[in-house]
Amino acid sequence: MSTAVLIDGKAYAEAIRARLAISVGELHDYHHIVPGLAVVLVGQDPASRIYVRNKHKQAEEAGIRSLVHTLPAEVSEDELSTLIEGLNGDREIHGILVQLPLPPHIDTQWIIDCIDPAKDVDGFHPFNVGHLFTRGTGLIPCTPLGCLKLLRRQHPDMSGLRATMIGRSNIVGKPMAQLLVQENCTVTIAHSKTRDLARECRQADIVVAAVGRAEMVRGDWIKPGATVIDVGINRISLEDGKSRLVGDVCFDEAVAVAGAITPVPGGVGPMTVAMLLHNTVLACCRQTHVEPCLHAVGKRMSSGTRCFACNAHERSSC
Ligand code: GUN
Repeated sequence: MSTAVLIDGKAYAEAIRARLAISVGELHDYHHIVPGLAVVLVGQDPASRIYVRNKHKQAEEAGIRSLVHTLPAEVSEDELSTLIEGLNGDREIHGILVQLPLPPHIDTQWIIDCIDPAKDVDGFHPFNVGHLFTRGTGLIPCTPLGCLKLLRRQHPDMSGLRATMIGRSNIVGKPMAQLLVQENCTVTIAHSKTRDLARECRQADIVVAAVGRAEMVRGDWIKPGATVIDVGINRISLEDGKSRLVGDVCFDEAVAVAGAITPVPGGVGPMTVAMLLHNTVLACCRQTHVEPCLHAVGKRMSSGTRCFACNAHERSSC
């Protein structure tokens, strides 16, 4: 029985964060700019608190100034939007993230719409959603972007591959499907009303699972040799009273069939945070009209920008 290659998101995310820390240092040393990230947490949801703590810690470790605004669950929409308006106008804040889910009395989309699209490091604002669909230069949601980076290492050319996205959320499913279309995959979006989910998976060279149901995707749903990206993080209780984190894919079954698979934990999760930091530095560079140059991100300088490592204008490299 063959065993799939393990896609090590933890190690890849660490490498990305180390590279970002160098870029942040250069931004500071050459331009006296410190990227600033504001994270807004409403209420006491235990999972959200852990996610926010993690984002804050990793941002600080990369040299990003991170400020967490914790608000009570009863906060009004007006109070929340007033906070966001203040952050929109704060020149030291380049990225704003409102941790979801929000309490039911708050209109989540209305709050997202309040965020300045240039600072929307989650990529959830309709401006950035639109840019994603038109291949513009908006900010791309962190989890799908992290999945894409993992997939590209496995499949440098995804043209013509069949991909099945399980889940149609605004946070993962819809943007991920669009990114796969841009990679020239033939994409199926499956969801809770899909008639034969197993069959939709079995035809796929790439399966991305983001449904939030522990171990729902079974081993016999996977085409032999397929690449499986598991976005789910579910805590399940064990008989001995302890608990364990599992994904949306039954790992022990799928690993024997797939060609490559992400573990949970240690797969997509760390990539999401790394992409948040990436988006924050990107948003900062755009707002301050400074651009990482060839040696930092492997691309040419565009007209009217300065390299943040050497301060050169419109150079092809430095
Ligand atoms: N809750 C779960 N995932 C996310 C995410 O990517 N961004 C925000 N803001 N909230 C989330």
